[in-house]
Amino acid sequence: MFRLTPRNVLILKHYLTRRKRALTYYSKKLEEIEDWSSSRTEFSNFYYELEESNLMDLASLLALILNVKYELVMYYFSEVRNDGSLHAHIAKYFAQNSKLRDSKAEYARRIGWYAIARILKPATIVETGVAQGMGSCILSLALMNNAKDGAEGYYYGTDIDPNAGGMYSEPYSSFGEIIYGDSIQSLKELNVTIDLFINDSNHDFDYERSEYETIKKSLKQESFILGDNSHVSDSLRNFSIANNRQYVFFREVPKDHWYPGAGIGISFMRQDI
Ligand SMILES: C[S@@+](CC[C@H](N)C(=O)[O-])C[C@H]1O[C@@H](n2cnc3c(N)ncnc32)[C@H](O)[C@@H]1O
Repeated sequence: MFRLTPRNVLILKHYLTRRKRALTYYSKKLEEIEDWSSSRTEFSNFYYELEESNLMDLASLLALILNVKYELVMYYFSEVRNDGSLHAHIAKYFAQNSKLRDSKAEYARRIGWYAIARILKPATIVETGVAQGMGSCILSLALMNNAKDGAEGYYYGTDIDPNAGGMYSEPYSSFGEIIYGDSIQSLKELNVTIDLFINDSNHDFDYERSEYETIKKSLKQESFILGDNSHVSDSLRNFSIANNRQYVFFREVPKDHWYPGAGIGISFMRQDI
């Protein structure tokens, strides 16, 4: 039994002071968990914004990797963030789905995918794992804007769920298509050179590795691979090292959301080494 002796009071004070100190780092997150628990939003594959400083760090990283000015990356970030039609398209999809009525048209790390697609001007983008299709719409918007700049491109998404891609409709779907079925099977049958590949399907580490092995023959020197599971998986890092590719990881800092964040694994081949 706990007795209120002077020594025990000191122990309790010590414990409470330290606990309070540690909780200052998590109290906002705990409040966000409370709000989220009673809302009607997605249960996984969360939609949120990134902290501004986190976006600026991402822009610095992409400028270095892609050998462009920081300002250009920030310009592409603004382009997608301020695209009213995309925002309205996604918000309308959520509003029409009662289970997602509180979900927000917020793109998280996909803003980085967009800027990469705008800078690389890929002829072919492949994204495995479409879910509702937020990535599909954002990548297709990049292709739409690339086409206005004179660089045509096409998007392929893959998903095993026949109901995936509900968000992927006109005008975005004019720039690509979704292939339904197991991703590795679809990749084997897809006979194209891939300029930008995004892995976001089955997050089993071996499955992810098999996707990279399957598309290896379809890559060019300049092709980029983005891993959406690289915050937990080492598959893209290992594939990059084994294939003489450079690898970096960007970690997200979500804004006003309890989720600790995912990231972008980025695999590429530097042409100068
Ligand atoms: C994390 S979600 C994709 C999110 C999407 N990229 C986005 O931007 O919102 C993962 C998706 O992968 C799909 N998936 C899981 N296993 C798969 C497989 N073996 N082949 C193809 N798709 C698969 C799931 O049906 C799910 O829709």
